[in-house]
Amino acid sequence: MLSTGSGAENNDARKFLAMTAVITSGVIATAFLVQSLSSSSAQTPTRQLPEYTASGELVLPKNFHEWVYVGSPLTPNALNGGTAGFPEYHNVYIEPGSYEIYKKMNAFPEGTIMFKELQLTLPGQNPDGSRTEPSGRGYFPGALNGADVTVKDSKRFADTQGWGFFNFNHHEPKAPTAKVKALNECAYCHIASAKKDEVWTQFYPLLDK
Ligand code: HEC
Repeated sequence: MLSTGSGAENNDARKFLAMTAVITSGVIATAFLVQSLSSSSAQTPTRQLPEYTASGELVLPKNFHEWVYVGSPLTPNALNGGTAGFPEYHNVYIEPGSYEIYKKMNAFPEGTIMFKELQLTLPGQNPDGSRTEPSGRGYFPGALNGADVTVKDSKRFADTQGWGFFNFNHHEPKAPTAKVKALNECAYCHIASAKKDEVWTQFYPLLDK
């Protein structure tokens, strides 16, 4: 009886040890997984840097719709004497890898791309260009309509104080590449009145720190 009893105890002890080992390795595996997940999410995403053609034109950046969206200034025709230069929503994005660095450094790193896509409002029903939808009277986003892009590169764009300015059409489709604009076309205005390093951070709460 005693031997049977001790045999059963030994069995139980072995089972207990085996269970402990399984649980412990489970805990270790889980801890490892959590650590690898948290360290990978803490890593800076791979940066998407600007690409240029052999003749120095900027290539239309890919996947900008997946970038960090910072805001949509709107300057409708009805508030600008009937003919606004840019009557569309100006939907602005920043390249996500650059945004991660910006959050830490509070400065735009070399290679930052800002993408402003123009988006027409749906046709108006009222003299001010507004229309009425179930949510109320106002302006509602419609067709896409070209893009403006800026790139930070202090050496390449020294003439315009560190940012290059590019227009990829004021209609669709967007141009596949664009030539850099002169100081008196774009940069002068950004230099004069944009809050931070030629970017209008005053209109983008995510960047206005
Ligand atoms: C007369 C002033 C003026 C000129 C000229 C001008 N911009 Fe801007 N730009 C602005 C203002 C103001 C904003 C932000 C508010 C808005 O979009 O209405 C802006 C926003 C932008 C943005 C979004 C990122 C940011 O800096 O806030 C880009 C990209 C941009 N402009 C590119 C261009 C390009 C390219 C040209 C020339 C083809 C140009 N701009 C000419 C005034 C100007």
